[in-house]
Amino acid sequence: MRTAAMLFAFLLASSGSMAAGDAQRGARVFQACAACHSLEPERNLTGPSLAGVWGRKAGGLESFVRYSGALKNSGIVWNGKTLDAWAKDPEAVVPGNYMSFPGIKEERARADLLAFLEKASQPGSPLAGKPRALPSLKSAPPDNRVTAIRHCKDSYFVTSAAGKALAYWEFNLRFKTDSSASGPAPNAPVMVGQGMQGDRAQVVFSSPGEIAAFIKEGC
Ligand code: HEC
Repeated sequence: MRTAAMLFAFLLASSGSMAAGDAQRGARVFQACAACHSLEPERNLTGPSLAGVWGRKAGGLESFVRYSGALKNSGIVWNGKTLDAWAKDPEAVVPGNYMSFPGIKEERARADLLAFLEKASQPGSPLAGKPRALPSLKSAPPDNRVTAIRHCKDSYFVTSAAGKALAYWEFNLRFKTDSSASGPAPNAPVMVGQGMQGDRAQVVFSSPGEIAAFIKEGC
């Protein structure tokens, strides 16, 4: 009898705790999501911004253009129930979606995450944190600003604004674009990542059309 009562009390307590996750702890759980999702409106990373996600139609953020057809056509509206299922096992909820994330199996952690997300996804929520200022590539130091790239046979020769010239095997130099506000100015590409050291590097342009025009062929 006593055991049954204790069990009942335990069940009540655990279902109660499900409803009332701890937003503070949830903020830590959200770190698992933050690599791909911001809480700033319209600031999309690998995944769409989660600002305003509560009540949003799945795949419905206009500014995010990389949704899977599977998510867009799922008919899901995001609320406590659908988000809990998604956070537990995205592939089970929407097979073929593009979110490379295995899910959080621990119920308590999901309840905390949702308590956090419900608040932090509201417009202007202090829980969302301050917008993270990205280092702007427009103010890169001369060592990283690229003034010329020459291609000869299987190699690229890159000159920096500081006057350094570096040689790369063509397979080791990557070209990227960053059209966001923190990206480089037009025709002012910037080296990032390993910077001007080592045998490989990345050069970021403001748009794809600039890349071929910037690189001069010549030996
Ligand atoms: C590795 C990157 C990555 C991680 C980590 C990640 N997501 Fe995602 N997420 C995505 C991508 C990409 C999509 C778009 C999926 C699609 O279109 O199929 C997405 C979609 C979503 C959506 C749908 C949004 C909408 O506008 O319909 C939600 C909600 C979401 N993620 C929540 C989370 C939460 C919560 C976590 C952490 C527990 C998380 N994600 C972790 C990349 C990620």
